Order: sequence, then structure tokens, then C-alpha cells
Amino acid sequence: MGVEIAVTGLTKTFGSQTIWRDVTLTLPAGEISVMLGPSGTGKSVFLKTLVGLLKPDAGSIVINGRDLTRLREADLYDVRKLFGVLFQDGALFGSMNLYDNIAFPLREHTKKTEAEIKRIVGEKIELVGLQGAEGKLPGEISGGMRKRAGLARALVLDPEIILFDEPDSGLDPVRTAYLNQLIVDLNAQIEATFLIVTHDINTARTVPDNIGLLYHRHLAMFGPREMLLSSEEPVVRQFLNAQRIGPIGMSEEKDADELAAESGQELPPLPPIALQLPTSDGRARRTARPAGEWCRANGVTPPPGSFQTSTVAAGAIASSTPASASAPTAPTAPGTPSTPSPLSSYAASAELVDEVS
Ligand SMILES: Nc1ncnc2c1ncn2[C@@H]1O[C@H](COP(=O)(O)OP(=O)(O)OP(=O)(O)O)[C@@H](O)[C@H]1O
Ligand SMILES: [Mg+2]
Repeated sequence: MGVEIAVTGLTKTFGSQTIWRDVTLTLPAGEISVMLGPSGTGKSVFLKTLVGLLKPDAGSIVINGRDLTRLREADLYDVRKLFGVLFQDGALFGSMNLYDNIAFPLREHTKKTEAEIKRIVGEKIELVGLQGAEGKLPGEISGGMRKRAGLARALVLDPEIILFDEPDSGLDPVRTAYLNQLIVDLNAQIEATFLIVTHDINTARTVPDNIGLLYHRHLAMFGPREMLLSSEEPVVRQFLNAQRIGPIGMSEEKDADELAAESGQELPPLPPIALQLPTSDGRARRTARPAGEWCRANGVTPPPGSFQTSTVAAGAIASSTPASASAPTAPTAPGTPSTPSPLSSYAASAELVDEVS
């Protein structure tokens, strides 16, 4: 499962405003990629263009040998079934309860019976920890719960391509850690191709196989995680290390005076590259690459301290145990088994937090 998406020379404008031009990248089948970039650089526009909701001015998006930018609306409708999308605002229907919102793609795109729909929706609701909230309207629940309902809806068609636009915005740090674990576990289980837009640098550093950075109307860099985390390219380095020193200013680009004022300042050394976040049950992800492989193959010396088990997925729920060790200890509700299934941790944490909030 999981399909490759080959984007070539993609350009998008709105009137006289160029959002980005000549974006070329390949999202490898079954891998997790993250797209970063300052606010307003067109990350959401990029996701909407990939699903065919926005038409690019130039370029191609090839999936399974078909160029999405040239498809008729009827064929595009067909290709969209490959996608599971969580939009930045959740985009739930305000007048429908959560159950109907999550069931919507099944009713729209499949001929499944209501009994089958009930089973699938129930499974996804459990996965994201929304049991008991099925009858609530989006306006009656918290932002975090709306986000999880959006996640459940994105997964309901068992998509081959999963696009998440800031799934972690508005989530507390513990939830974000569980969400990251859910993404890695899901990828191991269904092997879909993931593209995640996030502003969370820890997520970007530890979850994906590949990282991209949109900046100043172009794709500054896209490639394996280790390539960007060891890069000295000023924009990449500044963004991935959340530094003030560098070309990116408060209003996108710094002017010449601001850059001159910084010229004597020394940058801190690059931090160690953490090991990639392992699956919670130690299951291998088919597309995962051995730690340090890209650096070795390209003659790049990673920052000192990289790839040590003490740097495993810093900030993750998992402790400093290696991938092969036992599952992380997720808080479980009373009466639930002490060893959670790989995908139950997020749900368990969600229940717990909702109970106390
Ligand atoms: N439908 C539209 N019509 C005209 N301009 C648009 C439209 N959608 C987005 N834009 C513009 O495109 C630019 C990029 O917007 P986008 O939402 O993709 O940014 P982003 O990188 O996702 O930012 P953030 O990190 O804040 O979510 C913005 O200047 C926005 O105003
Ligand atoms: Mg956005």
C-alpha cells in the first residue's frame, strides 16, 4: 500500500500573487514526509493543490501514472478516494454530529451498508479516543476533540495517501506526543504515504522520513530527514533549529541592515540528530532506513551525539528505550488491559485527558 506522488514544476498564483513556483519533489510511497515553512508560505495551498481542490498554474502531480492537474472533474473525484485529508480547520460539517461527520466519506464514496459503516466509524472513533462523543455537534466539543474527529474522518476510507494540515495545532504537548506515536504506528500498520504540515519542530525532527521547507515562494529543500538535520544551509538551519539568527525575519525576509547586524554573531553548533520515533510495539516500518544511513552514504559527518539511544525521539511519550524494547507506558483507564495495543495509546490518553478537562 501507499503510492508515490511525483510533483514537478508546480506553480501556484492567486491573481498577481505568486504563492510558490517550480516546486519539484517526490513523496516516496509508504514514507512519512513533513512540510515546514513560515506562516503564509503556502503549505495549506500546497496540500489543497495535491488533492485537486486548487488548480496549479503550471506543473504536474503524477499518481499511479495519472497527472491530476489534467484530469476531468469526474476522474478527479475517483482519484480523491485515495486521499485522507485533515484540513487545518478540521472542516467538519457544523450541523452534523460527529458520527455523521465521520461516516460522511463512506456514505459519499462507497456503497457500504449502514451496519458496515457503523463498524468502521466505531473503529476509527475508538482509535482517536472519541467514544461517547458520537452524538455531539462540532460546536459542542473542544478544539482538540474536533481535531481528532477530523483525523477519524480522514482515515475512514483506509486511504493510501494521508495529508494532515497541522494535526497538532491546538493540542497540548502530551497529546502531540501521542499523536506522533499514532502517526508512526499507523504508517507501520497501513503503509500509506503521509504528508504532514506542522510547526512543531520536535515532530519534524523525529517523526518523518523526509522533510521539506517552503520559504519565500519556493521549495528551499526537500529530502531525507538526515539531510536537512545536518544541513548548514542558512534557511534550513534556522528553521529546523528555531533560531532567530538567519535569513528569516518577523515579516518573512530580513533586510540587508538586519542581516549585516547579525554577521559577526556565531551560531550555536547543530544539535545531535535524534533517532527516529519507533513504533510503540517495536514493529518495523517497512520504509524506515537505518539510523545514519543517509549521512554515511553522502559522506556527511552528523553533529556529535547523533543517533544515540539517549536522543531517541526527544519529547516523545516513549522513554529512552530503544525500538525493540517494550511499548511505552500509556496511561490507561481503570479496567483496561495494562498492555495497550499499538494503536490504543492515543485513545487511552485522550479519554484520560477528557475526563479531567
Ligand atoms: N483561495 C485563496 N484565494 C486567494 N489567496 C489565497 C487563497 N488561499 C490562500 N491564499 C493565500 O495564499 C497564501 C498562503 O496561504 P496558506 O494558507 O497556504 O499559508 P500556510 O503556509 O498554510 O500558513 P499557516 O502556517 O499560517 O497555516 C496566503 O497569502 C493566503 O492569503
Ligand atoms: Mg496553513
